[in-house]
Amino acid sequence: MRQPDPNVPTAPGRIPLLGHSVVALRHGLDFVMSLAEIGPIVRIYLGPRPAYVLTSVDLIREVSLGEAGEFHREDLREAIQDAIRDASNVLSGKPHELRRRMIAPALRQPRINAYAVVAADLANSWTAALPARQRLDLMDEAHRLVLDIICTTLFTAEFGADAKREVQQNIPWLLGQVVQRAALPRPIRRLRLFANRRFARKSARLRADIGRVVAEYRRTDRDFHDVLSALVRHTDPETGTRLSDAEIVDELILMLAAGVGSTASILGWVWHEIMRNPEIAAELRRELDDFVGAGPVQPEHVTALPYLHQVILETLRFWGPWVSAQTADGEVTIGGTTLPDGSLIVFSPYLIHHDQHYYPAPEKFDPDRWFPSRVAEIDQKAILPFGIGARHCPGSSFALMTITLATAALCSRWEPTPDPAYRVKPANRDFVAAPSRLPVVLSPR
Ligand code: HEM
Repeated sequence: MRQPDPNVPTAPGRIPLLGHSVVALRHGLDFVMSLAEIGPIVRIYLGPRPAYVLTSVDLIREVSLGEAGEFHREDLREAIQDAIRDASNVLSGKPHELRRRMIAPALRQPRINAYAVVAADLANSWTAALPARQRLDLMDEAHRLVLDIICTTLFTAEFGADAKREVQQNIPWLLGQVVQRAALPRPIRRLRLFANRRFARKSARLRADIGRVVAEYRRTDRDFHDVLSALVRHTDPETGTRLSDAEIVDELILMLAAGVGSTASILGWVWHEIMRNPEIAAELRRELDDFVGAGPVQPEHVTALPYLHQVILETLRFWGPWVSAQTADGEVTIGGTTLPDGSLIVFSPYLIHHDQHYYPAPEKFDPDRWFPSRVAEIDQKAILPFGIGARHCPGSSFALMTITLATAALCSRWEPTPDPAYRVKPANRDFVAAPSRLPVVLSPR
């Protein structure tokens, strides 16, 4: 085995056997920030295994745009294969390219417009049912609403109702497991015999439930204007490929895994930033009063609330994903440094979004930096909340639509007051950190 390149500095604080794993898992955001000044590539250890963190936009682009060599996600595939076997996030190379073409029609703008009708309806019923002057946790509410919106837009047909209920009941637990398993080193994961059996059993049941709905959609061959119809009906014009039932189950579970936690976390941070910045809240209220009034929120509001859009973009900058990882498939050369086959390559949009080389006063939450006449001042290459290149998030428009409608529905009707005794902390259990909790009391506006 080749020795680690001596020209790549190692982050301080490595503990024998554990490496930097404990600090990375407990204080992920502070840990990645501490690497920025060490060098463009910094070696860290996850247990005994070295990983290389890229701290500059140029190097992240080399990797993400395919200029540094080939990469794969076999570690992740092995960790989550009971639930998700062959979905786009674990495929690489040509099969990945083809899969991305196959799922693209389900998340294109005309479809998103149809999902916005469903999302607006759900957001309106949700906000109307919230209790006044009682303590509640807005983070629980964000999860509940986002899960409902994503599940409902995946399959809307009446005969999918039972499966949808199963998904809604089991997905929160399953997603927690997917995230935990992806973070644990393989030897430790394999020791968790009881947890592994439970994960396999529940995954098999969920796959079977969703599989029955997929088979029924295929038999019916109707367009229900949802994600599943688009996946079942699409034929790739270049190759004539159609997705198999198992591949569709994979992609549906992946959309839940990649979409629910991330969207709910960013939604939670949007609400948190509105609550802790009174001037921003006042500006947003003025916009909502002008365009939404007493409601209900309409699908057209997705593109009609420019200030809210700026607040969301700034939240995506401030609280964007903190970690992305892939494995070198053969030797790779990044910024002139050659790293061996099997090297784990990591980068952090969060780190770039908080680097003053790219964003002046990065610790200031400032939606005005996204004002149309100022946005040209931002280096477009440093805008990374949805990643770049072949793995750019296919659900970005879906996420923006959901966050806009949910926030408009909450803030046009309610004034949330946060519990002054509670200090919100980032919990980095997923690739997007979540607000720990958001305890509030709601007053009608
Ligand atoms: C605010 C919410 C979201 C954020 C910040 C986000 C961000 C990202 C990022 C950064 C990646 C690339 C990850 C990597 O390569 O390491 C990604 C991938 C992905 N996202 Fe999202 N996402 C969000 C919501 C969604 C939604 C709602 C969906 C689906 C409806 C979705 C589906 C996916 C899928 C399928 C991938 C895998 C793509 C691939 O590997 O080719 N995401 N997302």
